[in-house]
Amino acid sequence: MKFPNTRMRRTRKHEWSRLLTGENQISVNDLIWPVFIQEAPTTKVESMPGVKRYDIDDLLAAITDAVELGIKSVAIFPCVDSRNKDANGTMALDKDNFLYQAIKLVKAKFPSLGLIADVALDPYTDHGHDGVLDDEGYVDNDRTIEILSQLAINLAEAGVDVVAPSDMQDGRIEIIRGALELEGYKDCIILSYTAKYASSFYGPFRDAVGSSNAIKNKSKAHYQMDFSNSEEAILEAQLDISEGADWLMVKPAMPYLDIIAKMTDRFSHPIFAYQVSGEYAMLMDLSSRLQISPEVLFYESLMGLKRAGACAFLTYAAPMMAAYLKRHTCK
Ligand code: PBG
Repeated sequence: MKFPNTRMRRTRKHEWSRLLTGENQISVNDLIWPVFIQEAPTTKVESMPGVKRYDIDDLLAAITDAVELGIKSVAIFPCVDSRNKDANGTMALDKDNFLYQAIKLVKAKFPSLGLIADVALDPYTDHGHDGVLDDEGYVDNDRTIEILSQLAINLAEAGVDVVAPSDMQDGRIEIIRGALELEGYKDCIILSYTAKYASSFYGPFRDAVGSSNAIKNKSKAHYQMDFSNSEEAILEAQLDISEGADWLMVKPAMPYLDIIAKMTDRFSHPIFAYQVSGEYAMLMDLSSRLQISPEVLFYESLMGLKRAGACAFLTYAAPMMAAYLKRHTCK
């Protein structure tokens, strides 16, 4: 293996030889597009260039375009008017709320689209936490998971294919799986936010769902994971698998490639990665500073997730990347 017998640059000289020997590929089938829905007319999310909170008509139109580009699954998040929020997140369980209506309409129009919804209370609580609080202001684990299991049932009843508990309470997967079995939703997939770290990279998302002001100066560190830990992610994964999770997620993605790689090595379950709002904002910002197209940055960053072992990614850049991959593969 000595120079000049071995010249690594021989293979790198041409695009065709680079493509022939490429170890990893990204396809449109790997993309999940997170979308925001609200009752009010469509607005822009200021901290996430190109991302919108859609009203239902615009959401259906945007999904039509995304499906045209080959996107096959969408994760839907509600942005609730602050007047409809309260300490218990009551609106979450109101079966007539606009999220359930939107899910029904999306499902009716796109029956073969994979539809994912978060199970957590933060879009609905006036304090911005993912559950109901105890007297000391901590999220009350056991009362919260009761409510979340009902929320999961409502989502399944409205028509989602995948419920994604993003709350990081203990025992949530078990109680949700039990409730889904009991209520006849035996095929509903649970995508667990297994290794969800207490991260500052969620800032723009909180802006998008209108919880930033409420959660400002508070921390979710008493239920989300400490970012100095990695073995703890393995323990979380073991628990989620034993409780009935189908798919596991690591979140955020780019600063946590070691966690994705470790989980992929240790478990046979599919490992998903969530390239979160702050990562999106960061890459969009870099693309405007460098005056280069964002696709190139997203392509490289998503390839990193793929190399680490992620089978699929949630990314706000999904439509952009679907269009890019279409051009790229036809080249
Ligand atoms: C809610 C939830 C969050 C995200 C997804 N679901 C925010 C949080 O936990 O505060 C973050 C997604 C993103 O930043 O893109 N539980």
